[in-house]
Amino acid sequence: MTKTQSSGWGSRVGLVLAMAGNAVGLGNFLRFPAQAIENGGGAFIIPYLVCFLLMGIPLLFVEWSMGRFGGRYGQHSTPFIFDAMGKAPYWKYFGVFGIFTNIAVAAFYCYLESWALSWSYYSVAGTFTGMSQTEVQSFFVNYIELGTSHPVIFWIICLFLNTWILSRGLSGGVEKVAKIGMPLLILFGIVLAITGISLQASPGGAINDGIVGLNYLWSPDFSSIWSFKVWVAAAGQIFFTLSLGMGSIHCYASYLKSKEDIALNAMSAGWMNEFVEVVLGSAIIIPISVGYLGIEGVTNFVSEQGGLGLGFMVLPNLFSDWGTFGIFAGVMWFGLLFFAGITSSLAMGTPVMGFLEDNFKIKQSTGAWIFGGIILLLGIPCVLSQDAFNEYDYWAGTIALVIFAMVEIVLFAWVFGMDKGWKEINTGADIKVPGIFRFIIKYVSPIFLIVVFVGAIPSILENATKATSVYGWTARFLLVGLFVLVAILVYIAKKRQGSNPYPESND
Ligand code: PHE
Repeated sequence: MTKTQSSGWGSRVGLVLAMAGNAVGLGNFLRFPAQAIENGGGAFIIPYLVCFLLMGIPLLFVEWSMGRFGGRYGQHSTPFIFDAMGKAPYWKYFGVFGIFTNIAVAAFYCYLESWALSWSYYSVAGTFTGMSQTEVQSFFVNYIELGTSHPVIFWIICLFLNTWILSRGLSGGVEKVAKIGMPLLILFGIVLAITGISLQASPGGAINDGIVGLNYLWSPDFSSIWSFKVWVAAAGQIFFTLSLGMGSIHCYASYLKSKEDIALNAMSAGWMNEFVEVVLGSAIIIPISVGYLGIEGVTNFVSEQGGLGLGFMVLPNLFSDWGTFGIFAGVMWFGLLFFAGITSSLAMGTPVMGFLEDNFKIKQSTGAWIFGGIILLLGIPCVLSQDAFNEYDYWAGTIALVIFAMVEIVLFAWVFGMDKGWKEINTGADIKVPGIFRFIIKYVSPIFLIVVFVGAIPSILENATKATSVYGWTARFLLVGLFVLVAILVYIAKKRQGSNPYPESND
């Protein structure tokens, strides 16, 4: 079997940019600042960095090596990567999460991404020029309440773009978009970050220097060490931003050759994400909005409207204060969000395509259109109601990630075994992975994950029993249906496998 060669990455730079593009997303620019503000600024940053070191980095090593391992046996999605790693028949059903979560997250994520697209368009068209803060706010509300046809039009365009790029394959589609999108995103991000930090208070303009917001975030506040809620939020953010616990990293890594480096590649993509998140992500929205609204103003706004509100309602209005530069700032900000979004949503499509190709011989291009069709269907409730959106975000975008990560690290370190696992991580490695990670992966990360999960159980139960609208119920119903459907496909695929399901490919 030489499946790993039929489709794959064109170059190492392309792979790292695509992986970084997978990680760098709306989470870096909208979710991170909002989480930081909601969890007390400096109080958030210590748990966040600890989670990155004890959970983020180890899981990156684990997911990259699991992915490359699967690719060696012609498998590019987690159900059968897990099946190839653990003997017991149930592992593959845990692997179902690696398909389910990508689809469910893509269903709401692509809709958000389409807002970035339409807001880029409005910025170019000068729609926000001369609008007051309340006018921008009601423009936004009218938009999400479908007072115009634009949300639907931009959403369909966005879905079409994603599907079309995916249908062109990894090196022909995903990698090309990452090579253009990532450098532009970083350039726009640096210009906006410099603008944010150098913002100066002036009569009739900003009330604070930009640096005030930055200090708020970066002055460590040790009181949070004892707050479980802040730890759960920090862990959740690390998962979401690094795209961990999803199955998308496994899929990208499964297209590597079996002796190609994963250690250095994983670190390059992971650290690039952290640079974009903690340096650029904290230097734009927080300094600018704190500059104009003050810390209390921003905290109140975020608790009422969430982080999305800051990005889509407050910034356009502030930019319009800046004259001509404001137009560029708007285009750069929403353009950056769009590139961040699309390079991530593309990553969510690939495990589905890999699964269908490996197990049902469905061509990648056909798989891409199937994925697009499912996202269209599952996305409808999100477009219609915030309740559906919240259900997807909570169950798939938060809880499923933790469950999946907990299972995969046990599978890797304890079932597959740390001796073999450590060898996998180090095969072909272009850096020396510090030995301490062997200990962290075996003991620290699993315990950490189990504690986070057990600690979150009360709020999971509370959310499961919480009343919601008919849209919320539709979303829950669809999520369960989706999981069951993928599990049935996994069952059928297993039945169709021959007696020697995992012949090593000779790449
Ligand atoms: N990491 C992305 C972000 O920060 C989200 C994402 C999750 C992308 C899972 C792909 C897979 O926005």
